Amino acid sequence: MTSLQEKQSIKNNQFNKEDWSSAYQNVELELENKNLEVTQGNSIKELNGTLFKNGPGILERDGQWLHHPFDGDGMISAINFKDGKATFTNKFVKTKGYLEEKKKNKFLYRGVFGTQKKGGILNNVLDLNFKNIANTHVIKLGDELLALWEAAGPHALDPKNLETIGLTTLKGVLKKNEAFSAHPKIDLNSKYSKEVLVTFGVQTGPQSTIRLMEFSNKGNKAGEILFDRKDKLNGFAFLHDFAITTNWAIFLQNAIDFNPLPFVMGQKGAAQCLKSSPNKKAKFFIVPRDSGLYRGKPPVIIDAPEGFVFHHVNAYEDEENIVLDSIFYDDFPSVGPDEDFRDIDFEKYPAGKLKRSIINLKSRYSELSTISEQTCEFAVINPKFTGIKATHSWMACTNAKSGNAPLQAIKKINLDTKEEIFWSAAPRGFVSEPIMVPKTNSKKEDEGYLLILVWNGARRGSDLIILDSKNLEHLSTYELPINIPHGLHGSWSNNEED
Ligand SMILES: [Fe+2]
Repeated sequence: MTSLQEKQSIKNNQFNKEDWSSAYQNVELELENKNLEVTQGNSIKELNGTLFKNGPGILERDGQWLHHPFDGDGMISAINFKDGKATFTNKFVKTKGYLEEKKKNKFLYRGVFGTQKKGGILNNVLDLNFKNIANTHVIKLGDELLALWEAAGPHALDPKNLETIGLTTLKGVLKKNEAFSAHPKIDLNSKYSKEVLVTFGVQTGPQSTIRLMEFSNKGNKAGEILFDRKDKLNGFAFLHDFAITTNWAIFLQNAIDFNPLPFVMGQKGAAQCLKSSPNKKAKFFIVPRDSGLYRGKPPVIIDAPEGFVFHHVNAYEDEENIVLDSIFYDDFPSVGPDEDFRDIDFEKYPAGKLKRSIINLKSRYSELSTISEQTCEFAVINPKFTGIKATHSWMACTNAKSGNAPLQAIKKINLDTKEEIFWSAAPRGFVSEPIMVPKTNSKKEDEGYLLILVWNGARRGSDLIILDSKNLEHLSTYELPINIPHGLHGSWSNNEED
């Protein structure tokens, strides 16, 4: 883009693609406890804990770019707040594959999202090895901080300095490198522990198995498994996320086919072999939580609406219904083999829309309605309301009300009335998943802080921006000492003395 076009697009409050794509660069530094200064606004004394974020930190080796950023090795950032002071630490997850590739300075593994080894098809055919890239989420379980990637086992890290301890079996619960979802839910309303981490693993094939696990996450039993069950479902299952209520775990089995041939033949990544199937019907697969009222009962299977879902927002029970909010795409979004992810045409790419499914467990019927037409992703709620009725949600969304574009704004929406307010980083800022930290002594659902990593296209650097979650007032900005590529998920953990 010429500078004249650039100026024009900025004047029109539109993004320019170079500002957006400039975030995609390798992270070269690993820092520990680096003091951060507030560069705009004020520090917040009430924040007393750590924001952990995960995302790809290597995009290129020896001149070869990844085909998709989701193939990038996980790099964890941690920003600790204490007494109004903030410090920054970041480390790569030292997976086996990361260490091997760093040593040789080239990609030695194919990526699930289409990255191929150099040397063309002949060098990729029949190579079904993949590396556990540990790049999707980071969350505490017991004493360990877990870096998660859904197709393989969790890596344990030291939460204080982010040093990698190694692949963990969670005290023998998992087989070595067993698939473990990157979307655990924290249930703060369970009768079994002050905090319960509910998660799953999927083994897929012509028939798939879902393993549903609940761990205590507070007190002297923190990290111990409380409940563990396995259920089989027919057909291939691509399950990135799920939702919980007090008594149920809800999975949406998208109507997609997996044709592994182009992957086996070295032409495509495994995820590029997923395709919406017009001959299939999506299904809700609703598994009773063994901590709930329907322990030991079989799953309930109900037809689901058309569309493709990566992420759910929340679910709750309302008499005989489960109410489930999710982000729906018209089709599975994939970067084609000949496309460059840094130059994709957003308008041609499927857009995420916030929709509500009302699933009637008695009549076994579901109904879908749209909550908002605006493109969005990474929606969160106040974590105290996970699994019960939440009125408010916060999410990353486009700056414009219609069309697809990068995520540049944060929206707060009332899920009942659909009232919305916005904060925008446009034209030159690009947002990521907001993390909602509730005010310590407030009982009001929407009172707290939103912590957001923002790519600042104007200075080509990363900022941490804090908003008031009630009114989206901009409270503080910290310019970060490293550049963090557009990332994935994260979590907040209160300091231990709390
Ligand atoms: Fe995700």
